[in-house]
Amino acid sequence: MSADSSISTWHPVARSAELRPGANIVAGFAKGQELALWRSADGAPQAWENRCPHRSVRFTLGHVMKDRLSCAYHGWQYAAGSGQCTRIPAHPDMQPPRNVCAKVFSAVDAAGMLWVHLAAEEPPPPPRDDAVPPGWSFCRTLSVRADSASVRNALDARGFMPDAASPALHGALGHIATAALVLDAQAGLAFIHLWTDAAPGTEAMKALHVAARGLRGEIEARQPAA
Ligand code: FES
Repeated sequence: MSADSSISTWHPVARSAELRPGANIVAGFAKGQELALWRSADGAPQAWENRCPHRSVRFTLGHVMKDRLSCAYHGWQYAAGSGQCTRIPAHPDMQPPRNVCAKVFSAVDAAGMLWVHLAAEEPPPPPRDDAVPPGWSFCRTLSVRADSASVRNALDARGFMPDAASPALHGALGHIATAALVLDAQAGLAFIHLWTDAAPGTEAMKALHVAARGLRGEIEARQPAA
């Protein structure tokens, strides 16, 4: 059992569509853990601690080579899935030691999001694909300078309700039906991934964007001065 049981859950760290197979690396955070998010060429999601085991350079500065991630500094290459170092360019004939391995977290795609499990123990079942209602559109990820409890309290005050079968909170912003996925990114910083039944480019979607900014302003105004 982890000291912090809230890390033994799935955290919605990024929108799935942000990560292209065998292509880009996206920075992420969950519970203060800095992450490098990427996909191998077969599309499998990867969530790694954002530090190369060699000299701690951020993996997000590197690049993806099909099913490997190459560090920007000395070019050491690490395998998708295991995180094992498979090649050290300065010593091409050497088999990298087994203990040179990126720290790898469990990652899954569900409901249009990439979810990460941070705890060492076996993860719980992943969120269901209908955690966000099928056919709904992504609006935006709202960053809020507040802890996730303040965000949840503000959504609760606006009538958002939890769903027993889903990590999403359901309600309305600007009278637009909205599903909110709250991420505890780090101390004093939360993200709200907003999904809606409004179609992209419509007046309803614009109204939701305006309401979301209003929500952020309201939450941040209530935070104690630093
Ligand atoms: S710091 Fe990453 S290969 Fe050296």
